Amino acid sequence: MQIKFDQVSADYQLGPIRAKNIIDNVSLQIAPATFTAVIGQTGAGKTSLLKLINGILRPSSGSIQVGEFTLDHSANKATLNQVRSRVGMVFQFPENQLFAETVEADIAFGPKNFNFSAEEVDQSVYRSLERVGLDQSLLKRSPFSLSGGQQRRVALAGVLATKPDILVLDEPGAGLDARGKQEIFALIKKLNQQDRVTVLVVTHDMNDVAIYADHVLLLDQGKVVTYQETRAFFSDQDQLTEWNLELPDTLHLQRQIERRTGINFKQISLTQTELIDQLIEEKLL
Ligand SMILES: Nc1ncnc2c1ncn2[C@@H]1O[C@H](COP(=O)(O)OP(=O)(O)O)[C@@H](O)[C@H]1O
Ligand SMILES: [Mg+2]
Repeated sequence: MQIKFDQVSADYQLGPIRAKNIIDNVSLQIAPATFTAVIGQTGAGKTSLLKLINGILRPSSGSIQVGEFTLDHSANKATLNQVRSRVGMVFQFPENQLFAETVEADIAFGPKNFNFSAEEVDQSVYRSLERVGLDQSLLKRSPFSLSGGQQRRVALAGVLATKPDILVLDEPGAGLDARGKQEIFALIKKLNQQDRVTVLVVTHDMNDVAIYADHVLLLDQGKVVTYQETRAFFSDQDQLTEWNLELPDTLHLQRQIERRTGINFKQISLTQTELIDQLIEEKLL
């Protein structure tokens, strides 16, 4: 599903006070089945942007096209519900929202809510449990008896069970150890590549961006600084410096090797494999 922002602004109304232009005149087109990393400092508007795509936050002006639906200031409830059934949102620490007595009931909640038939509910519960790599033996367990990493998978399975075309995730790796985080990102990448789910992920880790994302969206004060392909993004050293962004480990290593040897590699290394290939090509290995 395609996502198109057309001059979108948004704000939060807090009683009489209005936080102005949290999202500020954003125009942006995100192609179907792409994997976008959303980055920017705290308060830049990353979470708000995800909420706009999911219809939790409504634009104050402009419009957002999500597939065949249009979200604008006057979008009605039916449209918002339809968009929510197509866009799965995984909040930060989604395990905090687990509530049911069993894992099965928790995962089934979304599809039931969207009026899946009993048979479809069962199928999607099993399918999404398998997708997140959890065993069926957990279905009758209380979600609260599981480990933190397992709880996060259950929460993710609950969103996947609604069969979204678009998945937006707010720092899905936060608070997990390196391995748990890598597993979650690998899983999201698989959904993106095999099921052609359009993915937007908020992350602070440039390694995640380099390894998994095909596009980078950098926000600052509610505005789009840049939206570009990952390789082009990490090739623009001036921009990285200007925005004080860390380099992914592989690129950092490459820059050190280039400095020490005086050899400039032909392209930037986004993964370990790419770095090794280039070292071999330059006869440094
Ligand atoms: N519910 C809310 N009510 C009022 N202001 C909010 C609310 N949520 C976020 N904001 C403000 O909107 C701005 C963008 O927030 P957010 O989208 O959460 O940024 P990020 O996810 O990049 O940290 C911040 O200035 C924040 O204080
Ligand atoms: Mg946020």
